[in-house]
Amino acid sequence: MEQIHPDVSKVILSEEDIKGIVARMGAEITKDYAGKNPLLIAVLRGAVVFMGDVMRAIDCPLGIDFMAVSSYGDGAVSSGVVRIVKDLDTKIEGRDVLIIEDILDSGLTLKYLMKNLRSRRPASLEIAAFLVKDVPGQETAVTPRYVGAHVPDEFIVGYGLDFAERYRNLPYIGILKPEVYGK
Ligand code: XMP
Ligand code: MG
Repeated sequence: MEQIHPDVSKVILSEEDIKGIVARMGAEITKDYAGKNPLLIAVLRGAVVFMGDVMRAIDCPLGIDFMAVSSYGDGAVSSGVVRIVKDLDTKIEGRDVLIIEDILDSGLTLKYLMKNLRSRRPASLEIAAFLVKDVPGQETAVTPRYVGAHVPDEFIVGYGLDFAERYRNLPYIGILKPEVYGK
């Protein structure tokens, strides 16, 4: 068994779980984009780990690009304020665009991003979210076409997800102990 980080209260997805989920998502995406050449856009920085895995689970020609938006700062509460910090290097007009996201919470970040990207006239625009946070009474502002797993309304770290830039390198998905982020 892998050693659990002392700041993590519980592992919700092990490395093995993650492998299975990524393989399943990759197969779905491969099927849907057969004969196409999608552009995968990952939202920095949390989605880089998922991007690296899922792109290798997709068996069709594809391109990748990256955007950085800020909505969270170093804190744990969504502000709803989104700013493009780094834009694409690729023209997306006429491309089949698939946004690769680490975790969808309120969905406000992606709602903003989708609107922005749609104005550039891609042929299609979909979302693959590795995680969707189930918040009681909250409806997400966007609906991802592909979902890896649902997680509880806790602060999630690992597999690219951070708290104050820490824990991104944990190979599993875990719940951060509330005392670590001072709740
Ligand atoms: P919204 O609410 O706009 O937020 O869907 C999505 C972005 O917020 C970050 N986020 C988290 N990051 N653990 C994290 O490390 C979490 O539990 C968490 N919840 C939301 C994430 O950057 C995502 O892109
Ligand atoms: Mg973050």
